Amino acid sequence: MAKLTPPRRRAPRRAGRPPGNVINELLEHKLIREVSYEKYRDKVRDVYDGPKGAMLAACSLISLHTPLGDRLFRERRFDLAGARRILDVGSGAGQLAKHVLRYADPEAELTCSDLSHEMLLRARQRLKSTRPRFVVADMTRLPFADASFDCVTCGYVLEHLPDARDGLVELSRVMMPGARMLLLTTEDRFSGAWTSRMWCCRTYNRRELRQICQDLGLRWKEELWFTRMHKVFRAGGICVHIVKE
Ligand SMILES: C[S@@+](CC[C@H](N)C(=O)[O-])C[C@H]1O[C@@H](n2cnc3c(N)ncnc32)[C@H](O)[C@@H]1O
Repeated sequence: MAKLTPPRRRAPRRAGRPPGNVINELLEHKLIREVSYEKYRDKVRDVYDGPKGAMLAACSLISLHTPLGDRLFRERRFDLAGARRILDVGSGAGQLAKHVLRYADPEAELTCSDLSHEMLLRARQRLKSTRPRFVVADMTRLPFADASFDCVTCGYVLEHLPDARDGLVELSRVMMPGARMLLLTTEDRFSGAWTSRMWCCRTYNRRELRQICQDLGLRWKEELWFTRMHKVFRAGGICVHIVKE
């Protein structure tokens, strides 16, 4: 299995910024952001193509992300009613797509996209549905026209980018004005630090991510929590209902 081996040099910590983890610093490093994003992305793809990717569905079940995600849709805290063209970005093994198929209107079209062809094969096998179309794509370069979708779901993908802006700009571009998005990503807190090491991804500071979204016309309509307990302990990562202005 290919290993992510980021460069050894440390990025200078910016003043007034909450401390991130080592992986954040490496990913934010100029070398990856400006020179070798493609190489880094290929390593991410290799990881998901391999045995870790094959275990992803089971891991999401064990970590309770799959059942907790189901609650968000079932309780209509992220309501899919009325959505006609839905894009699931970074579908992985189809964990979120499964909920979308279950709770979206029957006439809604679903597109599942992912960097990894292998992951999309796993998703197709798991979803056992002819409804979704599967598209291999890097979320920073989506092969879709502007304003193609009225709903986007993006679960635990953004943390694989050195800079959230590169992905969010693309998501914003393919969203129609007024379109809704469910965004889940790791936060720079305890559980995020654990996930970050396990999957070699970064974490985000909630306040900074919100500001980036706002700059791109992606308004945070509501911050969501899986359960009351998650809210009290501010656990479970960043989970937010976004609306494109
Ligand atoms: C942790 S899985 C998320 C699976 C699922 N969305 C969920 O909510 O559990 C991350 C997925 O993002 C994909 N991914 C990573 N970087 C990506 C990128 N730049 N563009 C598109 N997909 C990417 C990986 O291949 C992997 O399948």
